[in-house]
Amino acid sequence: MASRRTLIAGNWKMNGHRADGVARAAALKERLAAAGAVPFDMAVCPPATLIWPVAAALASGPVLLGGQDCHPAASGAFTGDIAAPMLADAGCRFVIVGHSERRHGHGETDAVVKAKAAAALAVGLTAIVCVGETEAERDHGAAEAVVAAQLTGSWPESAGAAGGHAEDRLVIAYEPVWAIGTGRTATPADVAAMHRMIRTTLGSLTDRADQIRLLYGGSVKAANAAELLALEDVDGALVGGASLDADAFWAIAEATPR
Ligand code: PGA
Repeated sequence: MASRRTLIAGNWKMNGHRADGVARAAALKERLAAAGAVPFDMAVCPPATLIWPVAAALASGPVLLGGQDCHPAASGAFTGDIAAPMLADAGCRFVIVGHSERRHGHGETDAVVKAKAAAALAVGLTAIVCVGETEAERDHGAAEAVVAAQLTGSWPESAGAAGGHAEDRLVIAYEPVWAIGTGRTATPADVAAMHRMIRTTLGSLTDRADQIRLLYGGSVKAANAAELLALEDVDGALVGGASLDADAFWAIAEATPR
């Protein structure tokens, strides 16, 4: 398993105003800086209005910054959208694309997610590409097929381009839709099986599949993090609700195996 460094990423979703967002970011920065050598990278993805103030609060510290979405185009007449170069300009290193709340709430297709991931890679961001089945799809025994199809359909072509290893800037987050914000988590056995399948599928997309970090997301909290993060092909977590509390988020990161 080797060189994949655990990534603990917080997705704040549409939560937070300047005071609490900045305070949370500052608290995490202080804790991570004081912790010295840790076996994980930590990132937070605030809502768009907070990206600049949170960037200022995190400045020159070890906590990394990410956006929650980006548009496929670099600029233009796209009211309400944010372009990947804008995120990079604000100091982001990451951007989440294809979250199920975008796929299902905004009708984003695999093709759209793929274009967004390509836009992120083009400006040097790391794209956290989310995939995950619905409860009905799992009940019908289609979970692995759905996730494999999303992964292949969302894989940015430029990732395989010669002259660089853009795929090293791709992170895949497996987030079963029925586990997001519900308090229900997939069983460790189900997560392990899905992550194994994702790694195998990545092998058909790139010869660098073993470099790509695979995160689990869906009701991750301090109480279940150690068990999930210990699984062989789980290289981190994408955390929603629990990332809104600095102590809870820190406790998840601390559950990274040493
Ligand atoms: P949750 O969200 O941790 O609140 O379930 C995870 C996510 O949607 O990324």
